[in-house]
Amino acid sequence: MTTDVMIEAKSLGKRFGYLKALDKVSFQVRRGEVVGFLGPNGAGKSTTMRILTCFIAPTSGSATVHGIDVFEDPLAVREKIGYLPQRAPLYTDMTVWDYLEFTSRIRGIDAASFTNRLKQVVEVCGLAQVLGKDIGTLSHGYRQRVGLGQALIHDPPILILDEPTADLDPNEKAELLKYIKRIGKDRTILLSTHNLHEVEEACARAIIVSKGRVVADGVLDDIRAGQGQVRYTITIDEQQALRGSAPKAAQVLAALKALKEARGVRELPTDERAHRFEVLSSDRVDLRAELFKLAFEQGWLLLELRRDAQSLDMVFRNLTKGDEAKDRGRKPEEEPVDDRESDPGDDESGDDAAAGDDEPDDDDDDDDDESDDDESDDDDDEDSESDDDDDEKERG
Ligand SMILES: Nc1ncnc2c1ncn2[C@@H]1O[C@H](COP(=O)(O)OP(=O)(O)OP(=O)(O)O)[C@@H](O)[C@H]1O
Ligand SMILES: [Mg+2]
Repeated sequence: MTTDVMIEAKSLGKRFGYLKALDKVSFQVRRGEVVGFLGPNGAGKSTTMRILTCFIAPTSGSATVHGIDVFEDPLAVREKIGYLPQRAPLYTDMTVWDYLEFTSRIRGIDAASFTNRLKQVVEVCGLAQVLGKDIGTLSHGYRQRVGLGQALIHDPPILILDEPTADLDPNEKAELLKYIKRIGKDRTILLSTHNLHEVEEACARAIIVSKGRVVADGVLDDIRAGQGQVRYTITIDEQQALRGSAPKAAQVLAALKALKEARGVRELPTDERAHRFEVLSSDRVDLRAELFKLAFEQGWLLLELRRDAQSLDMVFRNLTKGDEAKDRGRKPEEEPVDDRESDPGDDESGDDAAAGDDEPDDDDDDDDDESDDDESDDDDDEDSESDDDDDEKERG
């Protein structure tokens, strides 16, 4: 079956005992896309990836990779994917060369092709200097590169990378992202990470999961726009002014609040002898000119004016704040996130857009789902009881 949809998750559900790790997760990844799979700890990223890579079975729903159903033909699926698990299982007493040779033989690659593939993998993953070393003696960064090497050795069209850049130093991260971008031109990549800057750097699209559900899915700009909010910080000298006397914080606050487009204003702490404020506005307007004019008209000495370039951080926190809040025994509204004003134009960009998915996990509501996939359930239960990392190692 040829199709442009390289990865498809259809209403995936996964339970570990009474814990609902995934709840109707659906998305598609098309040929050539590099998609960032984002979510806080425990959101279900690794669980989703392990289903897609045939390591565990879902409790409900189904998935196809390269048009092949992960249950019907898991071997065919594995041929099409390179998978780097979150904790890459490596044989620490093997040298890097031996390990890559071993994984290529498992993949059915002949000796001549191996030499060729090894050359590429070594270059791409920067392994030239450690090829003869035991994996056990390598730093974590190098081990990750070896893990990436095994994922690439058979030149798969699809890569599933579970936090590949975790614990890499900034240079290695940048190198790896550069490569990921390059291979993303003719491969399909699903890449999980906590680092939003990496997603901005390497991915055109992001899927954000929270508590086992997809809460946003789309082009990064659209996800940002869906949130509709931009943050500015403005810093005014508290000792000097352009004209007249230096302003008091209350004066600045009142003037900022009076701006028509300002949705929320609050004072921020600063070590400088200055007043610093945060101003929130709709992303449909650019307040920078207004803020500059205001400062000039008021005779304030403007020290800094910044439009927040990291608004994806805010988007992420806004979409996933319920997780953290729950852990800390707070209601989501109590979280100190920049959403004190609700968004009027708050049409979600995500498919599921389950922003209001805070209802407690209700055991009943999933039971009907489970009936879909009885055979996979058995598998699943076994897996949930065993240590999955060991499991991966055995099969990996
Ligand atoms: N084998 C397992 N047995 C029981 N619970 C599990 C198992 N694997 C995962 N979970 C639970 O399922 C939920 C989702 O876990 P998952 O590892 O998919 O999250 P994640 O998004 O990858 O998080 P992280 O960013 O920390 O890697 C978590 O609550 C986790 O504790
Ligand atoms: Mg994970």
